[in-house]
Amino acid sequence: MSTNAERIERLELMRAEAQQGGGPVRVERQHAWGKLTARERLELLLDPGSFVELDAFVTHRASEFGLDRQHFLGDGVVTGHGTVDGRLVFVFSQDFTVFGGSLSEAYAEKICKVMDLAMKVGAPVIGLNDSGGARIQEGVASLGGYAEIFLRNVMASGVVPQISVIMGPCAGGAVYSPAMTDFTIMVEGTSYMFVTGPNVVKAVTHEEVDSEALGGASVHTGRSGVAHLAARDEGEALEQARRLLSHLPQNNLADVPLVPTRDPADRMDADLDDVVPDDPLKPYDMHDVLRRVVDDGAFLEIQPEWAGNIIVGYARIGGRSVGIVAQQPAHLAGALDIDASVKAARFVRTCDAFNVPIVTFVDVPGFLPGVAQEHGGIIKHGAKLLYAYCEATVPKVTVITRKAYGGAYDVMSSKHIRGDLNFAWPTAEIAVMGAEGAVNIIFKDAITDAEDPAAERRRLVAEYEAEFSNPYVAAARGYIDEVILPRETRPRLVRALEILADKRDTNPRKKHGNIPL
Ligand code: HXC
Repeated sequence: MSTNAERIERLELMRAEAQQGGGPVRVERQHAWGKLTARERLELLLDPGSFVELDAFVTHRASEFGLDRQHFLGDGVVTGHGTVDGRLVFVFSQDFTVFGGSLSEAYAEKICKVMDLAMKVGAPVIGLNDSGGARIQEGVASLGGYAEIFLRNVMASGVVPQISVIMGPCAGGAVYSPAMTDFTIMVEGTSYMFVTGPNVVKAVTHEEVDSEALGGASVHTGRSGVAHLAARDEGEALEQARRLLSHLPQNNLADVPLVPTRDPADRMDADLDDVVPDDPLKPYDMHDVLRRVVDDGAFLEIQPEWAGNIIVGYARIGGRSVGIVAQQPAHLAGALDIDASVKAARFVRTCDAFNVPIVTFVDVPGFLPGVAQEHGGIIKHGAKLLYAYCEATVPKVTVITRKAYGGAYDVMSSKHIRGDLNFAWPTAEIAVMGAEGAVNIIFKDAITDAEDPAAERRRLVAEYEAEFSNPYVAAARGYIDEVILPRETRPRLVRALEILADKRDTNPRKKHGNIPL
């Protein structure tokens, strides 16, 4: 019979063995690639000493292809819970040093266990991905394991925040788990995501491409829009995950954390009065506006490299976390196109799901014209943004800085679609379209028949501008609650968010809406 000391020693040995992952050679190889191990990553992600591991002694149950002779405690994924800034999170971290981080049935069960716990107690899930995909030796049992995870991703969607950090390969059907989480962060140079890899692509389409060019971080943050943030290294990626969490509540029934700020609520910024150029065709950088308005100028931009004509991201105003959606006049004149609509629609829905108020800055000349846009389905994609704003019941505050033309005026959190407080700067132009376009249509004959058509055109444009290119026609109808000085923007937003803090609004009961996908 073993003594207590022997039993304790056995446990300690097993714990030490689990810590080894796939062994020192494979760990060295991981480091040589510039990658950290699954456990080192968790140490960086979580508050020091907070990680509690679960299922460290789980092993796979397969015996085919010699697997009965290869067992690693933990079986290729480290799971458990810990804290980020003192708040509980559940985590899984795929261990590439064990069977290439490939997913077995038992490994999937470990991930499902932490996801189920996260749902029961209402806490976020962060997944660190570094895996060769389905464990080939386990066949369909591995596919079943993925499907169990996918189902939980969907059940957890809109209930607890889910963040995926891609820190190595993520290929095949495995990509659909990160794709269904709220945010995907990729590490530049060492991570890639694709449904079919370079070899399959070559065989099927004869295109020659390597992993980086097919599905590296720059592809997915700059072209496909699949990922939300790229990081220069693993430490930065994990820091981004921590920052994202700081803007989100624990779950859909909890409030967003308040972070007290020294930035005065009544701070006015006179420079804002000069941000919008006198010439309506001249661009300006909307980031200047955002930086001057939010607490301490701190803005966590999401998808900064994709669809630059719209800016989305998180900031705090008066200590309250807000989601910001803003046109960027410096890119495509801030017009709404397919990518911008999809980017903003997804962001609005993420904010709404997690009780984050939405502040919208509007300077939009309309939807982007063009055959490519029409044939690409701008009607249905633009409708996504309209749908998302209409459906959102969180506090919605809008500031029109310059143009709010046509359908895009309606879309961008207008009063008519339940904007709670809608402000406009004196530089706002709220109209069906710009003066030039309007005059060309409604005074076509008058201009042609005039003695000096160019002069007549100029006169009519000036007349239209004086009459309609301002915020006062909309304000006269109550579509704008207040025309404010640009410098007053921060104090007004702080107050608006304060009074809306306890807002309750609901949508009709239904199974789910039918957003135009
Ligand atoms: C079992 C795997 C594995 C896998 C890697 N390994 N992938 N074991 N199943 N899917 C093992 C290797 O045998 C090796 O073991 C170790 O992990 C490291 O792999 P290497 O090939 O030496 O590393 P590297 O050269 O960096 O290449 C990494 C890789 C490559 C690109 C990921 O291993 C690879 O292409 N793997 C197969 C990927 C794949 O086709 N997966 C299935 C996709 S389909 P040792 O013992 O030598 O350390 C899929 C479907 C999901 O995933 C479906 C969801 C619905």
